Amino acid sequence: MKNIILIGFMGVGKGSVAREIIKQSNLVALDTDDIIESMENRSIKKIFAQEGEEYFRVLERKVALWLQKKVRGTLISTGGGFFKVPNLPKIGTVVYLSAPFETIYNRILAHPDAEKKLRKRPLFQDIEKAQNLYNERAALYKKVADIVIDVSDKEMSDIAREILKKVK
Ligand code: S3P
Repeated sequence: MKNIILIGFMGVGKGSVAREIIKQSNLVALDTDDIIESMENRSIKKIFAQEGEEYFRVLERKVALWLQKKVRGTLISTGGGFFKVPNLPKIGTVVYLSAPFETIYNRILAHPDAEKKLRKRPLFQDIEKAQNLYNERAALYKKVADIVIDVSDKEMSDIAREILKKVK
């Protein structure tokens, strides 16, 4: 069985959607940021601060090759920039979780741990820069996606159901 890969901008809810899909199916899940943090035994924030972004991108490409070779039938949530790995289509069915930037930002702010959520994301330190990154990426996410799901104003459980129906 093919893997399902969730892509989308920081804070769009890839992790929450993955948890909901697990509840509704018998899939097991992996997260590319979690894999990188355990490979490196340090946080994404530290990796960016101590080594820089390019070092992190090399790790993402390494994880992508491992996923392609070794992982099957798994739900894979990803960091917001993972979609740029060259072998993405070979890993599985790519599902893009889409929402306007304002919706994503408000979703983060509404979270009880909003400050922590922003602090751990090196590319979300400056709103204007994050908005520019969103504008640069929006069309690119769509281009690599097999399935696009608009997640604005929807319950997590409905989003998960929609994805499971579409990947069947
Ligand atoms: C990044 C998104 C982050 C993390 C890293 C870079 C990006 O993941 O991989 O900070 O380039 O958009 P989330 O999408 O889970 O925040």
